[in-house]
Amino acid sequence: MIQITDPKSLQNYRNKIQENVGFVPTMGALHEGHISLIKKSITENGKTIVSIFVNPTQFLPGEDLDAYPRKLQADLKICELAGVDCLFMPDIQEMYEKDELSIKAPKIKGYILEGYNRPGHFDGVLQIVLKLLNLTKPTNAYFGKKDAQQLFLIQNMVKHLFLETTIVPCEIVREHDGLALSSRNVYLNEQERQDALLLSKSLKTATKRIIEGERDTETIRKIMLEILSPTAVEYVQIVDREFNYIQEIQINNSIILVAARVGTTRLIDNIWV
Ligand code: PAJ
Repeated sequence: MIQITDPKSLQNYRNKIQENVGFVPTMGALHEGHISLIKKSITENGKTIVSIFVNPTQFLPGEDLDAYPRKLQADLKICELAGVDCLFMPDIQEMYEKDELSIKAPKIKGYILEGYNRPGHFDGVLQIVLKLLNLTKPTNAYFGKKDAQQLFLIQNMVKHLFLETTIVPCEIVREHDGLALSSRNVYLNEQERQDALLLSKSLKTATKRIIEGERDTETIRKIMLEILSPTAVEYVQIVDREFNYIQEIQINNSIILVAARVGTTRLIDNIWV
């Protein structure tokens, strides 16, 4: 596995590759969720590039940028064992100038839900993802459905800026008890870990009610909010796959999203129905 830290070397590396390139951007502290994206990329492409970069522009003031888990040695091993061809781990100064352009997420869909609770977060996500896609020019880039709104906004950016990469959505990987894997789960103590389960439980109950015939999104939201009451809910919302709010569930075209704080840890989860 080649390790690269400067953008120019990454471009040189990429430009010598003739085969299809798969790209998996991450912020490190790799877990089975990340690994599933990496494995999919390795299966579907001649070469796979993974990036690890805790991107400062997507953290709001007061968020966990400094505390964000960093596990470089373990991450290196994971990538090596998985069969990653190139690992890109730039320093902040190599990715950003002091004074440079910013990218604005769409005014509506970049500022609802996650974007409402974390205003400007998606500006930073799109800024770094655009930079990384320009450096790696991947045939395919892999993103988890866990961050459903992020995935949607990246698919939109690729479409509207006419980028030539195919964005590949990947299924959410969960613990045996349903908790969606997240680098932030390490913040949870035992009691909080139990409460964190309520996110996936509420989504499971919602799905069950939909299977039984319920279609009214307000009814489903109420059922979920009750289950989630021991947590500090930020939102429970139901959208179609274009992130428009809907009043009736549309089978195969809806996403149920939840964000809640458990202790000081902010968690998100969702299910595609
Ligand atoms: P990060 O949170 O490290 O996640 C990297 C990728 O892994 C994202 O596409 C995310 O959706 C996916 N992922 C995380 N947990 C997952 C799970 N349990 N199952 C499946 N996929 C999962 O998302 C980011 O980093 C950053 O915003 C980034 C896109 C790298 C830009 O900085």
